[in-house]
Amino acid sequence: MACKRSGVQFPLAPRNPFALGVDLGVGTSFSAVSTTQNSGDFTLRGLRALVTGGGSGIGKAIADGMKSAGATVVVCDVNDSTNPDYVCDVANSKDVTSMFSRISTDLGGLDILVNNVGVPGPTARVDEMDPEAYDECVRVNLGGTFRCAHAAVPMLIESKGSMVNISTSAGIYGYPLRSPYVAAKWGIIGLTKSWAMELGEFGVRVNAICPGSVSGPRMDGVIARESAATGIPAEELRQGYANQVSLRTFVEASDIAASVVFLCSPAARFITGQVLPVDGNIETMRAD
Ligand SMILES: NC(=O)c1ccc[n+]([C@@H]2O[C@H](COP(=O)([O-])OP(=O)(O)OC[C@H]3O[C@@H](n4cnc5c(N)ncnc54)[C@H](O)[C@@H]3O)[C@@H](O)[C@H]2O)c1
Repeated sequence: MACKRSGVQFPLAPRNPFALGVDLGVGTSFSAVSTTQNSGDFTLRGLRALVTGGGSGIGKAIADGMKSAGATVVVCDVNDSTNPDYVCDVANSKDVTSMFSRISTDLGGLDILVNNVGVPGPTARVDEMDPEAYDECVRVNLGGTFRCAHAAVPMLIESKGSMVNISTSAGIYGYPLRSPYVAAKWGIIGLTKSWAMELGEFGVRVNAICPGSVSGPRMDGVIARESAATGIPAEELRQGYANQVSLRTFVEASDIAASVVFLCSPAARFITGQVLPVDGNIETMRAD
């Protein structure tokens, strides 16, 4: 059986490999009982990974973390000045098709896709929200995740690889004044759960990570815009964001990277369809 896309043939596993006794290479064969032990391998040695939006911020930290764990990592970014391996707007179908065709040639396949791109979108109450800005936020965050998965999955099926989608705490809570971002990030969790179900029988795992407030320029911008929209001083809002969290602090980009490495490693071979908050335990999304 083969999956044909753009003239390239990718072998597919039989439709129900469990019933046919086929070893998925993820430790499961024949019956509902695993026949191999977890090797406890937390590295990514020998794996090929793409991190989208990996030119800066959390994406760069993820790429660095995966390299340290032994993976061959390439990154794409829409911003040329971040020196990505591929300049690509993940919301643009032509860019995405061309990038994955180059990855197929450059790396000979792909074991890991990290859908990290996310733009904050507008900050406004629903009746004051610019509909065009709403559409653009959903187009990049949700549409970009879909487009990259659509192009990557044949390669992930071939390698029995995995995917991690970066959502946010706002992907599991309401978040006032940021509804398009919230809608897209809840959508990413829906995609994650659905794709894990679609692709599990091919040995492909799909998980999501929900970062909380991460120290860095992106959160600085979020707080500045929220301060402008509400009149609440930025420092008060920053403290409010820390107070939302049981551990009472922002997390670092390296914390997100460490969790991505774990989820993509052989040690996580039976973890799929899951949503992992890395946030110090956010209790509420109200910062005011
Ligand atoms: N920073 C936080 O506190 C925080 C919290 C929760 C979730 N997140 C999520 O983590 C991810 C990374 O966030 P970050 O803080 O590093 O953001 P960032 O804005 O600092 O970096 C995003 C990177 O993606 C690139 N990018 C933007 N649009 C793109 C596109 N259409 N195609 C390709 N590249 C594009 C940017 O050029 C940039 O290099 C996002 O999905 C974000 O929603 C961030």
